[in-house]
Amino acid sequence: MIIAANLKTNFTRKKTKEYINELEQFLDGNSVSEDVLVFPTSSSLDSYDGKVVVGAQNSYPTQNGAFTGEIGLEQLEEFGIKTILIGHSERRHVLGESQEFIAEKFDFFKSHGFKIVYCVGEPLEIREAGKEIMMDYISNQYEGIDVDYENLVIAYEPVWAIGTGLTPTLEDIADIHKNLKDISKAPLLYGGSVKVANAKDVLSIDNVDGILVGSAALKVNDFISMIKFADELDK
Ligand code: 13P
Repeated sequence: MIIAANLKTNFTRKKTKEYINELEQFLDGNSVSEDVLVFPTSSSLDSYDGKVVVGAQNSYPTQNGAFTGEIGLEQLEEFGIKTILIGHSERRHVLGESQEFIAEKFDFFKSHGFKIVYCVGEPLEIREAGKEIMMDYISNQYEGIDVDYENLVIAYEPVWAIGTGLTPTLEDIADIHKNLKDISKAPLLYGGSVKVANAKDVLSIDNVDGILVGSAALKVNDFISMIKFADELDK
């Protein structure tokens, strides 16, 4: 399975290094077959050559150029970064990225062979509007996206579950994941208020191929516990 930590706008470069080193120590001392991904903040990216796959939370779809405040491929290549998060709800809803721009980013990083963790998920008012409207909304987030891309991982993250402590029921996650697998056969992660207390249940659900964890991953021991759960389940 894929166990991923989105560190968002947390940790300094030094603290990120300590965090990744602790994960490496755990992975070195235990024969774990899970894929462990960590997405540090842009200024904490660095060269890491252990088992942890380090990815970017964001990048502008350019080699380099005049895009003030952004980083591009040149800055990722410096550290050998080949993994990126695209379409995260905070980039869609807080930073205002359109589906068109997200699809452009997707194409750019696909053309450079990146592993893309592509996020989809509905806000609360859409969820409350009923299943059909919700699935339509999520389907639109696949517009312009190559769902057969070989290096694609999808993360279903309901917006209302991110950072709120709320999660869909296990039955709802199972139902939505089953529907999303009809759109793409890519590995499908669940994200949104995953923590030690619910990770095992979430990981046990059919069609859940891993988790994308935000706040609960900031404690490295909690994140390690979640990796252990995945390993015990041996899916
Ligand atoms: P939380 O785990 O803090 O809800 O965040 C989830 C998320 O956005 C991961 O990308």
